[in-house]
Amino acid sequence: MLIERVGVIGGGLMGSGIAEVCARAGSDVIVHEINPEAAEAAMSRIEKSLDRAIEREKLDQAGRSEILSRIALSTDLTEQADRQLVIEAATENEDLKKRIFTDLDEIVTDSDAIFASNTSSIPITRIASATSRPDHVVGLHFFNPVPVMALVELVTTVMSDPGVEDRAQAYAESVGKTVIRAKDRAGFVVNMLLIPFMLGAVRMYETGVATKEDIDTAMRLGANHPMGPLELADFVGLDTTKYVADVLYEEFKEPMYASPPLLTRMVEAGLHGRKSGQGFYDYE
Ligand code: CAA
Ligand code: NAD
Repeated sequence: MLIERVGVIGGGLMGSGIAEVCARAGSDVIVHEINPEAAEAAMSRIEKSLDRAIEREKLDQAGRSEILSRIALSTDLTEQADRQLVIEAATENEDLKKRIFTDLDEIVTDSDAIFASNTSSIPITRIASATSRPDHVVGLHFFNPVPVMALVELVTTVMSDPGVEDRAQAYAESVGKTVIRAKDRAGFVVNMLLIPFMLGAVRMYETGVATKEDIDTAMRLGANHPMGPLELADFVGLDTTKYVADVLYEEFKEPMYASPPLLTRMVEAGLHGRKSGQGFYDYE
Protein backbone atom coordinates (compact mmCIF):
# COMPACT_ATOMS: atom_id res chain seq x y z
CA MET A 1 0.00 0.00 0.00
CA LEU A 2 1.51 3.30 -1.13
CA ILE A 3 1.64 5.96 1.61
CA GLU A 4 0.26 9.17 0.12
CA ARG A 5 -1.42 10.89 3.09
CA VAL A 6 0.82 11.80 6.02
CA GLY A 7 0.06 13.58 9.27
CA VAL A 8 2.69 15.41 11.30
CA ILE A 9 1.85 16.30 14.89
CA GLY A 10 3.78 19.37 16.04
CA GLY A 11 5.32 21.86 13.64
CA GLY A 12 8.33 22.98 15.67
CA LEU A 13 11.98 22.55 14.68
CA MET A 14 11.50 18.90 13.76
CA GLY A 15 7.86 18.71 12.66
CA SER A 16 8.30 21.54 10.14
CA GLY A 17 11.35 19.77 8.66
CA ILE A 18 9.58 16.40 8.55
CA ALA A 19 6.57 17.98 6.82
CA GLU A 20 8.90 19.59 4.28
CA VAL A 21 10.74 16.38 3.34
CA CYS A 22 7.50 14.38 3.12
CA ALA A 23 5.90 17.01 0.86
CA ARG A 24 9.07 17.25 -1.25
CA ALA A 25 8.78 13.48 -1.81
CA GLY A 26 5.20 13.92 -3.07
CA SER A 27 3.08 13.15 0.01
CA ASP A 28 0.03 15.15 0.99
CA VAL A 29 0.82 16.43 4.51
CA ILE A 30 -1.38 17.83 7.29
CA VAL A 31 0.58 19.39 10.15
CA HIS A 32 -1.27 19.61 13.45
CA GLU A 33 -0.40 22.39 15.91
CA ILE A 34 -1.86 23.55 19.20
CA ASN A 35 -3.13 26.98 18.12
CA PRO A 36 -3.20 29.29 15.07
CA GLU A 37 -0.06 31.16 16.18
CA ALA A 38 1.95 27.94 16.44
CA ALA A 39 0.55 26.80 13.07
CA GLU A 40 1.62 30.09 11.50
CA ALA A 41 5.09 29.75 13.02
CA ALA A 42 5.34 26.21 11.59
CA MET A 43 4.43 27.42 8.11
CA SER A 44 6.93 30.25 8.25
CA ARG A 45 9.68 27.78 9.28
CA ILE A 46 8.84 25.63 6.24
CA GLU A 47 8.79 28.69 3.95
CA LYS A 48 12.12 29.88 5.34
CA SER A 49 13.71 26.51 4.69
CA LEU A 50 12.37 26.46 1.10
CA ASP A 51 13.60 30.04 0.59
CA ARG A 52 17.04 28.96 1.73
CA ALA A 53 16.95 26.21 -0.93
CA ILE A 54 15.95 28.80 -3.55
CA GLU A 55 18.83 31.09 -2.50
CA ARG A 56 21.18 28.15 -2.97
CA GLU A 57 19.64 27.43 -6.39
CA LYS A 58 18.49 23.98 -5.26
CA LEU A 59 14.79 24.84 -5.86
CA ASP A 60 12.83 27.22 -8.09
CA GLN A 61 9.65 29.21 -7.37
CA ALA A 62 7.44 26.65 -9.16
CA GLY A 63 8.94 23.86 -7.04
CA ARG A 64 8.39 25.91 -3.88
CA SER A 65 4.70 26.48 -4.76
CA GLU A 66 4.20 22.81 -5.58
CA ILE A 67 5.71 21.68 -2.25
CA LEU A 68 3.66 24.23 -0.30
CA SER A 69 0.46 23.16 -2.09
CA ARG A 70 0.90 19.70 -0.52
CA ILE A 71 1.14 21.03 3.06
CA ALA A 72 -1.89 22.06 5.13
CA LEU A 73 -1.77 23.38 8.69
CA SER A 74 -4.48 22.42 11.13
CA THR A 75 -5.44 22.89 14.76
CA ASP A 76 -8.10 20.17 14.67
CA LEU A 77 -6.74 16.68 15.36
CA THR A 78 -9.81 15.03 13.75
CA GLU A 79 -8.44 16.19 10.37
CA GLN A 80 -5.89 13.37 10.75
CA ALA A 81 -8.71 10.81 10.27
CA ASP A 82 -7.73 9.73 6.74
CA ARG A 83 -3.94 9.61 7.27
CA GLN A 84 -2.00 6.46 6.34
CA LEU A 85 1.06 7.48 8.38
CA VAL A 86 1.16 9.88 11.32
CA ILE A 87 4.55 11.10 12.53
CA GLU A 88 4.36 12.69 15.96
CA ALA A 89 6.94 15.42 16.58
CA ALA A 90 5.41 17.29 19.52
CA THR A 91 7.37 18.50 22.56
CA GLU A 92 9.52 15.81 24.22
CA ASN A 93 7.21 14.80 27.08
CA GLU A 94 5.93 11.29 27.70
CA ASP A 95 2.49 12.18 29.05
CA LEU A 96 1.85 14.58 26.19
CA LYS A 97 2.86 12.01 23.57
CA LYS A 98 0.71 9.29 25.16
CA ARG A 99 -2.30 11.64 25.13
CA ILE A 100 -1.74 12.47 21.47
CA PHE A 101 -1.55 8.78 20.48
CA THR A 102 -4.60 7.85 22.56
CA ASP A 103 -6.53 10.56 20.69
CA LEU A 104 -5.15 9.50 17.30
CA ASP A 105 -6.16 5.92 18.05
CA GLU A 106 -9.79 7.12 18.23
CA ILE A 107 -9.50 9.40 15.21
CA VAL A 108 -7.49 7.60 12.51
CA THR A 109 -9.88 5.30 10.66
CA ASP A 110 -7.47 3.09 8.66
CA SER A 111 -6.60 0.11 10.86
CA ASP A 112 -3.45 -0.36 8.77
CA ALA A 113 -2.21 3.21 9.32
CA ILE A 114 1.25 3.52 10.84
CA PHE A 115 1.78 5.56 14.00
CA ALA A 116 5.35 6.83 14.38
CA SER A 117 6.98 8.95 17.04
CA ASN A 118 9.99 11.16 16.41
CA THR A 119 10.86 11.09 20.11
CA SER A 120 14.57 11.49 20.87
CA SER A 121 14.54 9.18 23.84
CA ILE A 122 11.22 7.91 25.17
CA PRO A 123 10.77 4.14 24.80
CA ILE A 124 8.28 3.54 21.98
CA THR A 125 6.68 0.65 23.89
CA ARG A 126 5.29 3.11 26.45
CA ILE A 127 3.80 5.28 23.71
CA ALA A 128 2.46 2.22 21.84
CA SER A 129 0.79 0.99 25.01
CA ALA A 130 -1.37 4.12 25.04
CA THR A 131 -3.10 2.85 21.87
CA SER A 132 -5.23 -0.17 20.99
CA ARG A 133 -2.86 -0.93 18.06
CA PRO A 134 0.64 -1.26 19.54
CA ASP A 135 1.66 -3.51 16.63
CA HIS A 136 1.29 -0.45 14.34
CA VAL A 137 3.50 1.89 16.43
CA VAL A 138 7.21 2.44 15.72
CA GLY A 139 9.82 5.13 16.23
CA LEU A 140 10.90 7.15 13.19
CA HIS A 141 13.66 9.34 14.57
CA PHE A 142 14.74 12.09 12.18
CA PHE A 143 17.71 14.41 12.84
CA ASN A 144 18.00 18.18 12.97
CA PRO A 145 17.96 19.91 10.49
CA VAL A 146 15.69 17.35 8.85
CA PRO A 147 16.16 18.49 5.23
CA VAL A 148 19.95 18.12 5.62
CA MET A 149 20.53 15.13 7.91
CA ALA A 150 20.51 11.82 6.05
CA LEU A 151 19.67 9.46 8.93
CA VAL A 152 16.44 8.07 10.32
CA GLU A 153 16.49 5.61 13.21
CA LEU A 154 13.68 3.07 12.94
CA VAL A 155 12.83 1.96 16.46
CA THR A 156 11.11 -1.39 16.67
CA THR A 157 9.49 -2.88 19.76
CA VAL A 158 8.59 -6.33 21.01
CA MET A 159 5.04 -5.53 19.88
CA SER A 160 5.65 -3.96 16.45
CA ASP A 161 4.55 -5.93 13.38
CA PRO A 162 7.46 -6.73 10.99
CA GLY A 163 5.29 -5.72 8.02
CA VAL A 164 4.62 -2.34 9.62
CA GLU A 165 8.35 -1.90 10.37
CA ASP A 166 9.20 -2.63 6.72
CA ARG A 167 6.58 -0.19 5.43
CA ALA A 168 7.86 2.53 7.80
CA GLN A 169 11.43 1.90 6.63
CA ALA A 170 10.38 2.01 2.96
CA TYR A 171 8.62 5.34 3.52
CA ALA A 172 11.64 6.91 5.27
CA GLU A 173 13.82 5.71 2.40
CA SER A 174 11.36 7.14 -0.13
CA VAL A 175 11.88 10.61 1.41
CA GLY A 176 15.62 10.22 0.85
CA LYS A 177 16.84 8.98 4.24
CA THR A 178 19.17 6.15 5.19
CA VAL A 179 17.55 3.98 7.84
CA ILE A 180 19.22 2.15 10.69
CA ARG A 181 17.23 -0.05 13.05
CA ALA A 182 17.44 0.22 16.81
CA LYS A 183 15.86 -1.76 19.64
CA ASP A 184 13.58 0.09 21.99
CA ARG A 185 16.04 1.39 24.60
CA ALA A 186 15.96 5.00 25.81
CA GLY A 187 18.01 7.16 23.42
CA PHE A 188 18.20 4.42 20.74
CA VAL A 189 21.64 4.60 19.05
CA VAL A 190 22.59 8.21 18.34
CA ASN A 191 21.39 9.92 21.52
CA MET A 192 22.74 7.20 23.76
CA LEU A 193 26.16 8.25 22.43
CA LEU A 194 25.60 11.94 21.71
CA ILE A 195 23.89 13.08 24.92
CA PRO A 196 26.73 12.06 27.32
CA PHE A 197 29.12 13.91 24.98
CA MET A 198 27.07 17.12 25.16
CA LEU A 199 26.53 16.77 28.94
CA GLY A 200 30.29 16.24 29.36
CA ALA A 201 30.91 19.53 27.58
CA VAL A 202 28.46 21.33 29.91
CA ARG A 203 30.27 19.84 32.93
CA MET A 204 33.62 20.89 31.50
CA TYR A 205 32.37 24.45 31.02
CA GLU A 206 30.67 24.51 34.44
CA THR A 207 33.85 23.39 36.20
CA GLY A 208 35.98 25.95 34.34
CA VAL A 209 38.25 23.63 32.39
CA ALA A 210 37.88 25.89 29.35
CA THR A 211 35.65 28.65 28.01
CA LYS A 212 32.55 27.67 26.05
CA GLU A 213 34.09 29.11 22.88
CA ASP A 214 37.27 27.08 23.37
CA ILE A 215 35.35 23.86 24.08
CA ASP A 216 33.39 24.33 20.85
CA THR A 217 36.45 25.35 18.82
CA ALA A 218 38.31 22.33 20.20
CA MET A 219 35.73 19.87 18.90
CA ARG A 220 35.20 21.70 15.59
CA LEU A 221 38.89 21.91 14.74
CA GLY A 222 40.25 18.99 16.75
CA ALA A 223 37.65 16.39 15.86
CA ASN A 224 36.13 17.93 12.68
CA HIS A 225 32.63 18.17 14.15
CA PRO A 226 30.45 20.63 12.19
CA MET A 227 29.39 22.24 15.49
CA GLY A 228 30.92 22.22 18.96
CA PRO A 229 28.93 20.39 21.68
CA LEU A 230 27.58 23.54 23.36
CA GLU A 231 26.56 25.06 20.02
CA LEU A 232 24.93 21.74 19.21
CA ALA A 233 23.03 21.67 22.53
CA ASP A 234 21.72 25.18 21.73
CA PHE A 235 20.78 23.98 18.24
CA VAL A 236 18.92 20.89 19.52
CA GLY A 237 17.21 22.96 22.25
CA LEU A 238 18.34 22.88 25.87
CA ASP A 239 14.85 21.83 27.04
CA THR A 240 14.91 18.85 24.68
CA THR A 241 18.54 18.02 25.62
CA LYS A 242 17.68 18.00 29.33
CA TYR A 243 14.51 15.97 28.85
CA VAL A 244 16.41 13.38 26.81
CA ALA A 245 19.13 13.24 29.48
CA ASP A 246 16.48 12.68 32.16
CA VAL A 247 14.91 9.81 30.20
CA LEU A 248 18.35 8.20 29.68
CA TYR A 249 19.21 8.63 33.36
CA GLU A 250 15.90 7.11 34.42
CA GLU A 251 16.54 4.10 32.17
CA PHE A 252 20.23 3.40 32.90
CA LYS A 253 21.02 5.23 36.20
CA GLU A 254 24.49 6.06 34.86
CA PRO A 255 26.05 9.36 36.10
CA MET A 256 27.07 10.24 32.53
CA TYR A 257 23.38 10.76 31.69
CA ALA A 258 22.63 13.04 34.69
CA SER A 259 21.78 16.61 33.70
CA PRO A 260 24.50 18.95 35.09
CA PRO A 261 23.08 21.63 37.43
CA LEU A 262 23.98 24.40 34.95
CA LEU A 263 21.86 22.80 32.20
CA THR A 264 18.98 22.28 34.63
CA ARG A 265 19.13 25.92 35.81
CA MET A 266 19.27 27.25 32.24
CA VAL A 267 16.15 25.27 31.28
CA GLU A 268 14.37 26.43 34.45
CA ALA A 269 15.27 30.00 33.47
CA GLY A 270 13.68 29.54 30.04
CA LEU A 271 17.02 29.61 28.21
CA HIS A 272 16.14 26.96 25.63
CA GLY A 273 18.95 27.68 23.16
CA ARG A 274 18.69 28.96 19.61
CA LYS A 275 14.89 28.63 19.36
CA SER A 276 14.38 30.89 22.41
CA GLY A 277 17.07 33.40 21.39
CA GLN A 278 19.41 32.54 24.28
CA GLY A 279 21.29 29.48 25.44
CA PHE A 280 25.03 29.06 25.88
CA TYR A 281 25.18 31.74 23.17
CA ASP A 282 23.05 34.77 22.39
CA TYR A 283 21.02 34.57 19.15
CA GLU A 284 19.05 37.80 19.49
N1 CAA B 1 17.08 23.85 7.40
C1 CAA B 1 17.26 23.45 6.11
N2 CAA B 1 18.47 23.40 5.52
C2 CAA B 1 19.51 23.84 6.23
C3 CAA B 1 19.40 24.28 7.54
C4 CAA B 1 18.12 24.27 8.13
N3 CAA B 1 17.92 24.66 9.39
N4 CAA B 1 20.62 24.64 7.99
C5 CAA B 1 21.48 24.42 6.98
N5 CAA B 1 20.81 23.93 5.91
C6 CAA B 1 21.41 23.51 4.64
C7 CAA B 1 21.89 24.63 3.79
O1 CAA B 1 20.87 25.10 2.93
C8 CAA B 1 23.01 23.97 3.01
O2 CAA B 1 22.44 23.22 1.97
P1 CAA B 1 23.22 22.91 0.58
O3 CAA B 1 24.47 22.18 0.96
O4 CAA B 1 22.25 22.07 -0.18
O5 CAA B 1 23.50 24.22 -0.05
C9 CAA B 1 23.63 23.00 4.02
O6 CAA B 1 22.60 22.76 4.97
C10 CAA B 1 24.85 23.58 4.72
O7 CAA B 1 24.44 24.81 5.32
P2 CAA B 1 25.39 26.05 5.64
O8 CAA B 1 26.53 26.08 4.64
O9 CAA B 1 24.56 27.29 5.76
O10 CAA B 1 25.86 25.80 7.08
P3 CAA B 1 26.89 24.80 7.67
O11 CAA B 1 27.82 24.27 6.68
O12 CAA B 1 27.36 25.51 8.87
O13 CAA B 1 25.95 23.57 8.13
C11 CAA B 1 24.58 22.38 9.59
C12 CAA B 1 24.86 23.73 8.96
C13 CAA B 1 24.15 21.41 8.49
C14 CAA B 1 23.43 22.58 10.56
C15 CAA B 1 25.88 21.86 10.29
O14 CAA B 1 26.35 22.83 11.19
C16 CAA B 1 25.69 20.56 11.02
O15 CAA B 1 25.67 19.49 10.42
N6 CAA B 1 25.56 20.64 12.37
C17 CAA B 1 25.41 19.47 13.21
C18 CAA B 1 23.98 18.98 13.11
C19 CAA B 1 23.75 17.77 13.98
O16 CAA B 1 24.63 17.16 14.56
N7 CAA B 1 22.46 17.40 14.06
C20 CAA B 1 22.03 16.32 14.90
C21 CAA B 1 21.52 16.88 16.19
S1 CAA B 1 21.02 15.61 17.30
C22 CAA B 1 19.51 15.17 16.75
O17 CAA B 1 18.97 15.69 15.81
C23 CAA B 1 18.85 14.06 17.48
C24 CAA B 1 18.04 14.38 18.68
O18 CAA B 1 17.16 13.58 18.96
C25 CAA B 1 18.32 15.52 19.57
P1 NAD C 1 9.98 22.20 19.43
O1 NAD C 1 9.89 22.72 20.81
O2 NAD C 1 10.72 22.98 18.39
O3 NAD C 1 8.54 21.90 18.82
C1 NAD C 1 7.55 21.18 19.47
C2 NAD C 1 6.23 21.60 18.87
O4 NAD C 1 5.21 20.74 19.37
C3 NAD C 1 5.83 23.03 19.25
O5 NAD C 1 5.61 23.77 18.06
C4 NAD C 1 4.54 22.84 20.04
O6 NAD C 1 3.59 23.87 19.84
C5 NAD C 1 4.04 21.51 19.50
N1 NAD C 1 3.10 20.82 20.35
C6 NAD C 1 3.07 20.72 21.70
N2 NAD C 1 2.00 20.02 22.11
C7 NAD C 1 1.33 19.66 20.98
C8 NAD C 1 0.14 18.94 20.72
N3 NAD C 1 -0.61 18.44 21.72
N4 NAD C 1 -0.26 18.77 19.45
C9 NAD C 1 0.48 19.29 18.42
N5 NAD C 1 1.60 19.99 18.61
C10 NAD C 1 2.02 20.16 19.87
O7 NAD C 1 10.60 20.73 19.57
P2 NAD C 1 11.39 19.87 18.48
O8 NAD C 1 12.83 20.12 18.64
O9 NAD C 1 10.72 20.03 17.15
O10 NAD C 1 11.12 18.41 19.04
C11 NAD C 1 9.95 17.68 18.70
C12 NAD C 1 10.21 16.20 18.93
O11 NAD C 1 11.31 15.79 18.09
C13 NAD C 1 10.62 15.85 20.36
O12 NAD C 1 10.12 14.58 20.67
C14 NAD C 1 12.14 15.84 20.27
O13 NAD C 1 12.74 15.05 21.25
C15 NAD C 1 12.33 15.24 18.89
N6 NAD C 1 13.61 15.53 18.25
C16 NAD C 1 14.22 16.74 18.42
C17 NAD C 1 15.43 16.99 17.78
C18 NAD C 1 16.12 18.31 17.93
O14 NAD C 1 17.30 18.41 17.57
N7 NAD C 1 15.49 19.35 18.41
C19 NAD C 1 16.01 16.02 16.97
C20 NAD C 1 15.34 14.78 16.80
C21 NAD C 1 14.14 14.54 17.47
